[in-house]
Amino acid sequence: MIKGDTSVYGLVGNNIKGSLSPIIHNYLSDYYCINSVYTTFNVDTDIKVAIDGAKALNIQGLNVTMPYKEDVMPFVEVEKTAKIIGAVNTLKFTDNGYVGHNTDWYGIIKTITINNIDVENKDILIVGAGGSAFAVAYALAKLKPRKIYIQNRTKEKAVAIANLLHNLFEGEIIVVNNTKNTQIHGIINTTPVGNNDSIDMMPVNIHGMSQLQFVIDIIYNPRKTKLLLECDKIGIKAINGFDMLVYQAIRSFEIWNDIVINDMEKSIHRNKLLNITNTMCL
Ligand code: ATR
Repeated sequence: MIKGDTSVYGLVGNNIKGSLSPIIHNYLSDYYCINSVYTTFNVDTDIKVAIDGAKALNIQGLNVTMPYKEDVMPFVEVEKTAKIIGAVNTLKFTDNGYVGHNTDWYGIIKTITINNIDVENKDILIVGAGGSAFAVAYALAKLKPRKIYIQNRTKEKAVAIANLLHNLFEGEIIVVNNTKNTQIHGIINTTPVGNNDSIDMMPVNIHGMSQLQFVIDIIYNPRKTKLLLECDKIGIKAINGFDMLVYQAIRSFEIWNDIVINDMEKSIHRNKLLNITNTMCL
């Protein structure tokens, strides 16, 4: 129940009405009997104004999503990993103001491991080069693929990801304009292409990729993008963004509440949340 001393958390971003984050975080605070509530704050103004307002209102923590994951960084103290990635998706209120963390990379590592995807020594393509792509690149580098390909509409941003990877990864890094004649074992789509605003579009053409074993699309609404439906048709493992969403959220929750949730409990939460959200209209 919301009381006078209930701590407030939330999501800042743009066009976030359909976010599942409130469901995840309110489920977690109920489960752990933590006196907090989580809601969404759609921000159309300058992100600094929103952060100053949140500070003034004593909001204890915020998740940050598109389009502010990078824009928010000058206004908070950025933790080491988030600094390397160059994007922040979690703010924790401290005596010195907000500290910015990145938990997206953890979400993608868990997505890969819990779905038994093997990326070691494989050739992987990252599609997109926004804040999420930097987190995906950071996570992938830890899992030691053989080559990482990066494809993005704006080539300079793909090159920026390659530059990040040069410091983290010993394998080959290749920026591509398209994937024609490129054999790839796995794809991670980080662009919004295929979401509800572009339901009939695919961010990459998978036909002719005879070595392709898996595709992760970080979109979770719709549950199956056209890209994932195409994978289903030809028997390629197709994973949506739900696991990434849940695991980055659980990691944010751990940071906010200074707790460690073990892997078994995390997986129970993931399964319960999947059941809860599977019956919802997204
Ligand atoms: P996030 O922080 O969640 O990664 P973002 O920073 O807006 O979101 O990045 C989205 C990525 O998807 C960007 O790489 C963007 O390409 P640009 O770098 O050219 O802007 C890519 N993207 C967005 N809409 C796209 C579209 N319609 N076609 C192709 N790529 C698109």
